[in-house]
Amino acid sequence: MVNPTISQHVLTCIACSARLDPSKRFSCPRCGELLEITYDLHSRRRAFITSLKKPPPYSVWRYRELLPIATTHPISIGEGGTSLTKSDRLARKLGLTKLYFKNEGQNPTASFKDRGMTVVITKAMELGVRTVLCASTGNTSASMAAYAARAGLNASVLIPSGKIAKGKLVQAIIHGAKIVQISGNFDAALKKARRMTEQRDDLYLVNSLNPYRIEGQKTISFEMWEQLGKRVPDAIFVPVGNAGNISAIWKGFRELKALNLINRVPRMIGVQAAGAAPIAEAYAKGLDHIVPWEHPETWASAIRIGAPASWRKALKAVQESNGSILSATDDEIRRAQRLLADHEGIFGEPASATAVAGLIKARRTGLIHAHDAIVCVITGHGLKDQSII
Ligand code: F0G
Repeated sequence: MVNPTISQHVLTCIACSARLDPSKRFSCPRCGELLEITYDLHSRRRAFITSLKKPPPYSVWRYRELLPIATTHPISIGEGGTSLTKSDRLARKLGLTKLYFKNEGQNPTASFKDRGMTVVITKAMELGVRTVLCASTGNTSASMAAYAARAGLNASVLIPSGKIAKGKLVQAIIHGAKIVQISGNFDAALKKARRMTEQRDDLYLVNSLNPYRIEGQKTISFEMWEQLGKRVPDAIFVPVGNAGNISAIWKGFRELKALNLINRVPRMIGVQAAGAAPIAEAYAKGLDHIVPWEHPETWASAIRIGAPASWRKALKAVQESNGSILSATDDEIRRAQRLLADHEGIFGEPASATAVAGLIKARRTGLIHAHDAIVCVITGHGLKDQSII
């Protein structure tokens, strides 16, 4: 079941533009920077447009013409196709007329991670990998464990001991992952996971530095664009931790633009927790690089990250889109979570509420305007993290 015409792609270095054949690599052998997947987009344009003519339901695999996967039998549990809910009460409170929530908590394991995981685990099967590995603040491990179970692969997760929400740990356990708790934070866990995969060829790292993850996650952009009647929002608010998701959403819009399907792009507005905000700091100081934070601390445990792997991609997304990177304190995040829950009926986990906190701030400071069309990405379901009580 191989369709070679839709699998052709190359890995391109985001810093030095080196082009490599597809492989298990996620960093450039020449300069060490991250890679991204690139295609001859125009050769895929016609097939992609045809797929857009199909009636919904939406799903990650609706967009397979722009995915780097050959098989027609992906490892899928029904990811994507989440609702885009037009805000009524919260929009009015903030003086906005076109505010939408993209509710990624509706994915199979209740976070946006499933979009990338369906693609990367399918790729793992294509590569003949037997064991997948990730470091995680919780959601990646939950998602990886579920998709590895579906595929019949071994799964190992490295998590910061005592630092991830119980609901997410329960998910990793029930899906049968091997759980290794490490005494440091997420950054230490990721470092260790990277080292392990460099030393052992039988392991495949599926953190968001793996470019195949990003490909799945970019489908959120195609989906929201279609749900908006093929209109481009003015701004997208997204929480930022390891910075994979903001990079993925931006890549989705870049590809729509390169295909001439849209003639403008949204402003990407990333929001970090104030206690874990190295990218917001670099942006505020006008630096072209981040200085990692050694002791990140925030209630939003999913984004308690001091050395985001994809910082360069995130800064590029913000600069190229005329966006911004903001930060929100834990108090602001708590208030935003409540507001979302009691004005819209949407229960987002703390990291997700960070995007709403950023939105509130942006409205106050005039970064966005009353009639801007805004999408705020609610990345994970609140039931995973019950630390409000
Ligand atoms: N929101 C939620 C609910 C998350 O779990 C994460 C990241 C983010 C936002 C930030 O996304 O890292 O792509 O910038 N969670 C990772 C994990 C780190 O291990 O589950 P990002």
